Amino acid sequence: MRNGLPASAYLDPGRHQQERRAVFAREWVAVGDSAQLAEPGAYLALEVAGYPVVIVNDAGVLRGFHNVCRHRSGPLVWDGTGSCRSLVCRYHGWSYDLQGKLLSARDFGAELDTEEFSLADVAVDAWRGLLFVNLDGAAPALTGWLGAIVDRCAPWEMEGFRPFHRSSHDLAANWKVYAENYQEGYHIPLVHPGLHRQVDSSRYRVELDGPVALHSAPTRDGSVTTGEWLWRFPGFALNLYHRGMSLETYWPTGPTGTRVRYTFFASEDCPDEEARATVANSVTILDEDRTICEAVQRNLASGSSPPAVLSPRHEDGVALVHELVARALADG
Ligand code: FES
Ligand SMILES: [Fe+2]
Repeated sequence: MRNGLPASAYLDPGRHQQERRAVFAREWVAVGDSAQLAEPGAYLALEVAGYPVVIVNDAGVLRGFHNVCRHRSGPLVWDGTGSCRSLVCRYHGWSYDLQGKLLSARDFGAELDTEEFSLADVAVDAWRGLLFVNLDGAAPALTGWLGAIVDRCAPWEMEGFRPFHRSSHDLAANWKVYAENYQEGYHIPLVHPGLHRQVDSSRYRVELDGPVALHSAPTRDGSVTTGEWLWRFPGFALNLYHRGMSLETYWPTGPTGTRVRYTFFASEDCPDEEARATVANSVTILDEDRTICEAVQRNLASGSSPPAVLSPRHEDGVALVHELVARALADG
């Protein structure tokens, strides 16, 4: 019987910092839909696993930077979306062009060499309407990173989907508690009574393919829950269904905090009512997962948490999370 991780892995601030650097600063992280950046000058700024990032449309080319000024670390833009011609620091007004080059350092005079003060780059890429960032200078190609997901999505007309709803949710649980929960259907009958009525959770399968997990469960008659449930380590999940899809992406906000972001897409022929029902259904499922994950987190922190054991039938996907985290930490 395989064991889980010790409780300290879900609590320790040092471990959190290691995982930010070794996992989330190395892997591609989905940040939403590329439609947000369709217009030249559009930007999106957000914190990804604690790293402040800004992505801009520079005359049709997407570029990413650390949202940190080269003067004294002020923010170039506040988090959110907007439009700009240059990036002007909110602290003392240094300005940068959309390629990250310093245009002017207010009142510094000629002795400062602007060439030496460009913004630090972040890799950005878009795939089929989804937007990703990678903080690692040696990021692998995005499609290679997505692995089996690329082929699984090939039959779907993803480009024809329109972003319908975006939301962000903060959970009081370590990101691994949430990832483990995502990676098994064992909890469905107890935690998700509504979903349990829609799918036959006794036949829930998690098929592993390297860092990718392909989830499936036969639906009960009349259910709309058909399609593909795809997951990729550490925090990417894509759910394709009858007339749309949802992107779910999550990352740590601290040792005991996780942010989950959703982008819902609807096909052209999907009535708004159906799209709204899909959103409501997902929010219910997230609330159910939140309740159980936060309870698990409190128990892990209580000091009364026994060593975890993993089900050979249901929890291979959980073991995969542990294996890939361990590998990333070993690689530094
Ligand atoms: S910190 Fe940006 S101008 Fe001072
Ligand atoms: Fe769940």
